[in-house]
Amino acid sequence: MSVAPFSLANVQGDVLFGLPKQTEKFLFFQINDVDGFRTNFGNVIPLITTAEQTSGNISEIRQTKQRIGLAANEGDGETVHPAVVTVSGVNIAFSAKGLSKIGLVDEVGDPEFQKGQRADAEELGDEGTGSGSSYEPKWESQFLQEIHGVALIAGDSHESVDEKVQSVKEILSTTITELHSITGDVRPDSQRGHEHFGYKDGISQPAVDGVDTPKPGQMSVDQGTALFGRGVDANTDRPDWTLDGSIMVFRKLAQQVPELDKFLLDTAGSQEGADLMGARFVGRWKSGAPLMITPTADDPALGDDASKNNDFRFVNNDQSKCPFHAHIRKMVPRGDSLPDSFLKQHMILRRGIPYGPEVSESEKSSGVTSQDRGLLFVCYQSSIDAGFKLLQQGWANVAAFPPRASPTPGQDPLIGQSTGESPRIITGAFANDTSKPLTLLQHWVDSKGGEYFFTPSLPTLRDVIAKQ
Ligand code: HEM
Repeated sequence: MSVAPFSLANVQGDVLFGLPKQTEKFLFFQINDVDGFRTNFGNVIPLITTAEQTSGNISEIRQTKQRIGLAANEGDGETVHPAVVTVSGVNIAFSAKGLSKIGLVDEVGDPEFQKGQRADAEELGDEGTGSGSSYEPKWESQFLQEIHGVALIAGDSHESVDEKVQSVKEILSTTITELHSITGDVRPDSQRGHEHFGYKDGISQPAVDGVDTPKPGQMSVDQGTALFGRGVDANTDRPDWTLDGSIMVFRKLAQQVPELDKFLLDTAGSQEGADLMGARFVGRWKSGAPLMITPTADDPALGDDASKNNDFRFVNNDQSKCPFHAHIRKMVPRGDSLPDSFLKQHMILRRGIPYGPEVSESEKSSGVTSQDRGLLFVCYQSSIDAGFKLLQQGWANVAAFPPRASPTPGQDPLIGQSTGESPRIITGAFANDTSKPLTLLQHWVDSKGGEYFFTPSLPTLRDVIAKQ
């Protein structure tokens, strides 16, 4: 691969920084007129937000938030308070079928991407029937169709996002068929930046070498972990047009919030006990404060402090403060038996956003979900096998991960799953007896489907995808 100097102007904004968002629309489409699409696509390019522009937008948002006294750096990606700035951004990504439809038949060099997410559903542990090539995941029908691409449109309000969506649709017009669209929204008021179970999200991300300055405790990764053709990915045998691209994993993950709340309360016997057990499932309190620093009570000031809330490591084979099974320990077991040099090859950049309404009073009192809500999970990496798929299949779903932890941790209580399973059993949930097993009666996160996409660089969008 011939390599041009690295520039933020060449990378799409969601990959390295996350498009600022109060709301985000994912518009899934099929290309039905290739020539027309490629001709019209030239007019979409000025709308695509680069990492350089995103970085500028985020600085402006942070400065404004500081001036008007709003907490900075909330949420998964920079959340935009509608009163702060008007901003909207557009990114675009293509599935393997979409790329080959456009005529980019050289494979990007990632077997999982090439096959598509549906072929991975059984290995990821998504519920379904059959096995092997006849496995039918119980996904929403929209993800069982052939998807060629997705436009991500994020911004400060539904109005500004809808306006951009209209512009993209008008430009591409009949060259595409819109298959469906899904909207995610940052949760309201005190829950801004928190996912639907109530825990603050988007706190721990790797810093990318040459792009971010690591905060205390933050691990940094080589550029090639996120971007094709850079750093450790430079010597791979990939087509030139993949340079500065990244693979985007999209998953619609439904969350059963009242059911989890009820399980925690029934098991722990008091609200205080339920709060502690929930924090042990995650590895952080709802405020984001890590159990490794504050194991017995929440500390909202710590949760808010980006210079302190990642400054900890787990203690190898010791789960007195934070269980081995805790979601954040399963995902990045820093300080456990695996060396940092290994963990850094398997880090992902997360850019999700919650979807669906707040839990209603009747759902709260019945303990039963009646409205669809959850997380539109998005992450970027240069290898699905080393990134998302390993984290889901090899770590979250595996009871004996982290390795050499005793007693056996059990699956990740938030996202661990396996097909045709019996109830999951974890240890470490009870702070006063960490070897006592706990049987989890159900899942609280279910995959409704998704796809793997490739997010090309700006030069590739301009010079290869758009027709000259
Ligand atoms: C509905 C599903 C999910 C929920 C509710 C959820 C929630 C959370 C929360 C509350 C945190 C801690 C805050 C933070 O550090 O940002 C977190 C961290 C994280 N999650 Fe998830 N998550 C979900 C799905 C996933 C999936 C599918 C993956 C990947 C397979 C994943 C990977 C991670 C990673 C890598 C971290 C950072 C860990 C660290 O560095 O400490 N999450 N998640």
